Amino acid sequence: MKREIKKAEGKLGILLPGMGAVATTLIAGVLASRKGLSKPIGSLTQMGTIRLGKRTDKRNPLIKDFVSLANLDDVVFGGWDLFTDNAYETANKAGVLEKSDIEPLKDELIKIKPMTAVYDHKYLVNLTPNNIKEGPTKMDLAQQLMNDIENFKKENNCSRIVVLWCASTEVYSAQTDVHATVETLEEGLRNNDPNISPSMIYAYAAVKLGYPYINGAPNLSCDVPAMVELSHRTNTPIMGKDFKSGQTLMKTILAPGLRARLIGLDGWFSTNILGNRDGEVLDDPGSFKSKEVSKSGVLHDILEPELFPELYGNTYHKIRIEYYPPRGDFKESWDCLDIFGWMNYKMQIKINFSCRDSILAAPLALDLALFIDMAKRADMRGVQEWLSFYCKSPQTAQGLPAQNDVFKQLEKLENTLRYLKGEDLITHLGLDYYENELFA
Ligand SMILES: NC(=O)c1ccc[n+]([C@@H]2O[C@H](COP(=O)([O-])OP(=O)(O)OC[C@H]3O[C@@H](n4cnc5c(N)ncnc54)[C@H](O)[C@@H]3O)[C@@H](O)[C@H]2O)c1
Repeated sequence: MKREIKKAEGKLGILLPGMGAVATTLIAGVLASRKGLSKPIGSLTQMGTIRLGKRTDKRNPLIKDFVSLANLDDVVFGGWDLFTDNAYETANKAGVLEKSDIEPLKDELIKIKPMTAVYDHKYLVNLTPNNIKEGPTKMDLAQQLMNDIENFKKENNCSRIVVLWCASTEVYSAQTDVHATVETLEEGLRNNDPNISPSMIYAYAAVKLGYPYINGAPNLSCDVPAMVELSHRTNTPIMGKDFKSGQTLMKTILAPGLRARLIGLDGWFSTNILGNRDGEVLDDPGSFKSKEVSKSGVLHDILEPELFPELYGNTYHKIRIEYYPPRGDFKESWDCLDIFGWMNYKMQIKINFSCRDSILAAPLALDLALFIDMAKRADMRGVQEWLSFYCKSPQTAQGLPAQNDVFKQLEKLENTLRYLKGEDLITHLGLDYYENELFA
């Protein structure tokens, strides 16, 4: 059955809580693409195609021609940050992009100035902000954010808004009673409950207004029952969490291969060095804990140790992130996999990935924003698990195990698009190509 997707008409405002390295790399890349200065490499919405029908039909349209997505020319960026620097200043300080790539965009970047942010020292200890809102209650802060969103929408003549958390990783916190229902959450906002973090206040403001919300970091944010309930009540799509960009992307590419060939795994040691502000924040044990939890879940679900105790029952998975300022955004990761095969013979795989963190994350942020805007226009609401392709720790329906295998995640995304458009789902069965030949 085909679902109606309303056309992407008018401007789309992408509002970013957190206008640091990822956010400014995203903005600069979109501006550069518009000017024809660079290609949006790594973005499925901009460069990806989708197969429709049989292999022999040769129907492979661009995804952006198949479903109605906002055009990059119609995107307007804004956001909030703890610091007053505009997007031009931040892009220069972040050290991701070359000056020669930033200068042609200067006039537009300079105009993107962060609004005052919602901050709580309990959830972020390593930074000293100079651009924050005053309470007195968390509900007042949420109301101020809602005003910011509506003013931005009006001033920029946007027809739609998406809010995408690109801010620092908050100190680890677990779900508590205040996160149980919309009523308990609202009560907690009014009473300044300490278990409500800034990212939850942004999520609440967006979802309450019916604007899609995405969480690019590993902290809880919209991944609590109250926020899911609110997203249903306001018919709003939400998704999180944590962009699946570097080491975890590699992990979820490689692990399905080991599992497919039933190769055993004694251990997987992953370490990273990075020196950007993200690394500085993750140097705090509380923020690192959020990241560690998000990064460590992926192997379990792919390897299924319950089904294969001899192969994966004792896999030792260790993750380290080390803050090392000289490296800036040029993260380097090392992975050592101790594997075993036929007759228990031991082998090793070593990966050394010298990546650029924000270069990998920016296209994911763009795709998430454009796809969740489409979801809203298709009247989808609640958790958008089909976007788990982009997430290190995908949010799912309560109690439902996540799917972390990146190939299955891509199939899920593509089949969702086919489903929405009334096209046949692709199972790769392929028996129809051998109609009279396969069975005697
Ligand atoms: N770069 C990647 O590959 C990658 C991958 C996965 C997740 N992430 C996550 O994305 C987020 C952004 O990464 P980054 O490299 O851009 O970090 P960054 O430190 O450069 O930028 C984060 C920005 O958020 C701001 N901020 C912090 N708390 C805020 C708040 N309450 N309200 C508004 N602004 C706030 C900070 O001032 C900073 O400018 C981090 O949480 C990171 O863990 C990044």
